[in-house]
Amino acid sequence: MSSSAVAFARQNQPRFLDELKALLRIPSISTLPEHKGDCRRAAESLLAELKRMGMEHGRLIEGAGHPLVYADWLHAVGKPTVLLYGHYDVQPADPLEEWVTPPFEPTERNGNLYARGAADDKGQVMAQVKALDSLLASGRALPVNVRVLYEGEEEVGGEAIASYIASKPADLRADFALVSDTEMFAPGLPTLCVGLRGMIYTEIEVRGARTDLHSGVYGGAAPNAFVSLAQILAKLKDEDGHILIPGFYDGIIPPSPEELAAWRSLPFDEEQYRTAEVGAKQLVGEASYSVLERTWARPTLDVHGIPGGFTGAGAKTVIPAKAVAKVSMRLVPGMAPAKTFALYKGYVEQIAPAGVQVEVRLLHTGDPCIVPVDNPYIQAATRALREVWGKDTVFIRSGGSIPVVGDFSRHLGLPSVMMGFGLPDDNLHAPNEKFHLKNYALGIESVIRFLEEASR
Ligand code: BES
Ligand code: MN
Ligand code: MN
Repeated sequence: MSSSAVAFARQNQPRFLDELKALLRIPSISTLPEHKGDCRRAAESLLAELKRMGMEHGRLIEGAGHPLVYADWLHAVGKPTVLLYGHYDVQPADPLEEWVTPPFEPTERNGNLYARGAADDKGQVMAQVKALDSLLASGRALPVNVRVLYEGEEEVGGEAIASYIASKPADLRADFALVSDTEMFAPGLPTLCVGLRGMIYTEIEVRGARTDLHSGVYGGAAPNAFVSLAQILAKLKDEDGHILIPGFYDGIIPPSPEELAAWRSLPFDEEQYRTAEVGAKQLVGEASYSVLERTWARPTLDVHGIPGGFTGAGAKTVIPAKAVAKVSMRLVPGMAPAKTFALYKGYVEQIAPAGVQVEVRLLHTGDPCIVPVDNPYIQAATRALREVWGKDTVFIRSGGSIPVVGDFSRHLGLPSVMMGFGLPDDNLHAPNEKFHLKNYALGIESVIRFLEEASR
């Protein structure tokens, strides 16, 4: 089947690439207060572009944090309505010295576009936007009704969009969601993601003495907040990757034998994964589960940073009064963020060493999710992907989290189609993030074809 929108997209690819680069130049880092204005600029530029293309009712939805971007086009009478989702915020770019070219100066190198946010998620947001642009410019109409909802706080937990969705606004009435924020299992292999891990992100704060103390004068008698914190952290997980919080694993729903069998037939090379992707001398974790099970269907716990104490050059002999650790847990189906947090908090308080006070704080949560595959939109997606990529679609899960997918299902009853175009070596959240240029071009075509197939 020929599509004039696909032809338009091919002709306009150089312009589409320039427009993606312009968005990537805006350092919309949602977690850093000094980039608040940049987040707004990114939202405004997307809004202006959607309006220019002919999308209607375009507006920013304001909340406590960074704005949501909304627009719609609802003239496909009798056709389904899709809610398009992506995020314009990005992770911090540090460590800066490890970038080959600066994170906010998008640069093409051997078939890739390097920049913070290239794959996660501006390249994928723009794949949606440019698909709409191509459909509207070539045919002055869309094959289905479309609502667009882009957020600027996905990387910090998405509280604003969660409460907006929970209020069930009429603006979000739709039949399904297209979420463009995931990866393909391998280059050239069309992929739909059907499950995500949830998470709880926490801080443990330990306080010992009333103030920092001379470590010679008081060492041996005064509690050391860092040592106490290290003792707590060491009791959270054992050497075999087993989490030691009592009750933590209760209620977990394992993948079905059919799903596990499908995972075994995916083209996965553990040695290649260990050397090229992870780059460590050995993989760790629960030995009785495969790597895909460990990262997709088992919960885990990680420590992200321990700010505080003396970290300057040279030596300072001090007993720090306070220490903090940032700790998160990834959750799988059958686990609930509130319950997991309560078990964890109780356990940390119980194992706290003598002489210190411990506070356990919850920063944000997201539910794990499995999306239904027995709906016509998944079928339409696999037809579209076959046309564009010439191959059958593989169904995978991902170990990452996109909290909004659970909210779409719970509050709006929407099934999500998670069709993503990132690649396993895109360096998400890391230095030298990239987006494969071919995936940008074919991502646009995939979204065009998907919307066309979804209207049949
Ligand atoms: N797009 C990612 C999640 C992802 C990555 C899904 C790879 C599938 C494949 C998303 O932007 C992300 O990083 N989410 C955070 C969520 C958190 C801060 C609530 C994550 O997973 O750490
Ligand atoms: Mn993302
Ligand atoms: Mn991310």
